[in-house]
Amino acid sequence: MAPFTMREKSILADLKVTIGKELFENPVWVASGTFGYGTEAPELVDVDRLGAIVTKSITRHPREGNPPPRIVETPSGMINSIGLANIGVEKYIKDLLPIYEGLSTKVIMNIAGTDIQEYIEIIEMMESVSSVLIGYEINISCPNVKKGGMEFGVDCDMTAILTEKLRDITERLIIMKLSPNVSDIVSIGVSAENAGADAVSAINTVVGMSINAKTGMSDIYTNYGGLSGPAIKPVGLAAVHKLHQKLEIPIIGIGGIVSGEDTAEYMLAGATAVQVGTANFRNPGITENIIDSLTLYLNESNRSSVTELIGKVHTYS
Ligand SMILES: Cc1cc2nc3c(=O)[nH]c(=O)nc-3n(C[C@H](O)[C@H](O)[C@H](O)COP(=O)(O)O)c2cc1C
Repeated sequence: MAPFTMREKSILADLKVTIGKELFENPVWVASGTFGYGTEAPELVDVDRLGAIVTKSITRHPREGNPPPRIVETPSGMINSIGLANIGVEKYIKDLLPIYEGLSTKVIMNIAGTDIQEYIEIIEMMESVSSVLIGYEINISCPNVKKGGMEFGVDCDMTAILTEKLRDITERLIIMKLSPNVSDIVSIGVSAENAGADAVSAINTVVGMSINAKTGMSDIYTNYGGLSGPAIKPVGLAAVHKLHQKLEIPIIGIGGIVSGEDTAEYMLAGATAVQVGTANFRNPGITENIIDSLTLYLNESNRSSVTELIGKVHTYS
């Protein structure tokens, strides 16, 4: 879809949303790990149009990740078991921060660690250099690493301690990224909020498995991986809706978003912004289409601001 002309823009609905002290041009962001580091395909997507870029999870030291096969297509989605392959924080500072300086879109760094100290060390290192980063998304929910990550995401006390420690060392946004692989996602969200998080994002991938009946082999080296894509949209919507009933802080909806209508559904459920993940693999420019179709949806439904959608789903009870 062609971007709108200046004349058309003046009568279009306002897409701006606020999270903490940050104002975003629109609520459509790209999700961690699905857009590389945000610098790979400038000819395929105008990154400056995005509400924000959330960069791939960074750990204190570089990681190779899990052995292949670590990606498989599944009905309406995919399973990945990348295992946090990444360049490590030193290289992120040296090679990527200078590139982010040149973008006019907001950049949020996603961080993963195996213990509390690792998260603290990464943020301390980031805070000691000057950067345009507006915040950190804290991955406490990656199902693909043997140690760490997931242990925080399933435990309220650990989530609270980690959030509190990170709150002490940065004034930038802290967004705790929640796992759907828990019995009560709301209590984890409440712990993050009480400990000082600016927002929560939900959901990370859903634990899944894929088997090839012909060979009898598991399709993924680690056997279990993270399911993403349209298959998990209903899980994400329910998580966001439940969180919205209990939390005061904004919620960023993630899971299976491919269109402006999907974005509207997440916002009606209670999200203030959304992240687009797996859909980027099929079309790296899809977020631009989503922004345009969200704008059309708002205009057609006579809403002047996207914020009018937040939490406004009609339910039966
Ligand atoms: C290949 C792949 C890599 C991912 N890597 C990360 C990551 O490094 N850190 C993270 O927090 N989430 C990661 N995710 C999860 C996504 O950010 C997102 O939460 C999830 O895929 C659900 O959204 P979607 O259905 O739109 O893909 C990854 C997802 C995929 C598919």
